[in-house]
Amino acid sequence: MLVVLKETAGEVGQEAARIVAGAVRANPSAVLGLATGSTPLGMYEELVALHHAGNLDFSKATSFNLDEYLGLAPADPQSFQYFMHSNFFSHVNFSPEKIHIPSGAMRKDFSAYCESYEQAIKDAGGIDLQVLGIGRNGHIGFNEPNSSLASRTRLKELTRETIEDNRKFFPQGAEIPECAITMGIGTILDARRIMILATGKSKAAAVAKAIEGPISSSVSASALQLHPDVIFVIDDDASYALTQRDYYRRVLELTKKYTPEKLS
Ligand code: GLP
Repeated sequence: MLVVLKETAGEVGQEAARIVAGAVRANPSAVLGLATGSTPLGMYEELVALHHAGNLDFSKATSFNLDEYLGLAPADPQSFQYFMHSNFFSHVNFSPEKIHIPSGAMRKDFSAYCESYEQAIKDAGGIDLQVLGIGRNGHIGFNEPNSSLASRTRLKELTRETIEDNRKFFPQGAEIPECAITMGIGTILDARRIMILATGKSKAAAVAKAIEGPISSSVSASALQLHPDVIFVIDDDASYALTQRDYYRRVLELTKKYTPEKLS
């Protein structure tokens, strides 16, 4: 796992955008796995700016989003579908038919729907670069603690903590969805490359457990230790509970010197 320590959340967003842009420039038909939440907002802003400056073309790229709340229609301003369109897709040149976001409008037949989402990922050739955030409880996507490390796309019940954390995105008094459709940890681990972002003090404990703790279904992000190509981009606040920060800085310097392609 390559740990990239940045000072500020703004720098995390820029670094993340640089890596996504690099993947799309190297392979214009890249398949991107995309995440929602406040953490990747800076990355999307920067990607939009690169696109507007004429430096980044998404017309051949494909995307698969990680998750969606159950019970929210695509037009609902709190849906991840709405989030992705308002913060990213409506500002860049993705082909609409190449954008995939799980539907929260399902009422039944969840397994068949989730299998079709998995099949669509396979049909697209698999995910080249998966972007992730991390929940305070260490979840990735909506893989709450004790999710199987081999889990696939499915309906998942949200913890109280996650429901409370996501309240900030909903109008006061609104009912927060209690379930979501999410890619599984096994689905995420199938991506060829994974980039996970974390900013802010509230993520520090989860980040330390994910990077330096034992692999455990209690901390879904710790499963990333099993993947051979993961880059973790973190700001100062989110990194303070890590015990090996000096080593990660040295690894980064030596990576720049000997294997810079790992950072491209
Ligand atoms: C939600 C999403 C995750 C995201 C997490 C953290 O639970 N399902 O994909 O990583 O929130 O969100 P934020 O970046 O707002 O802290």
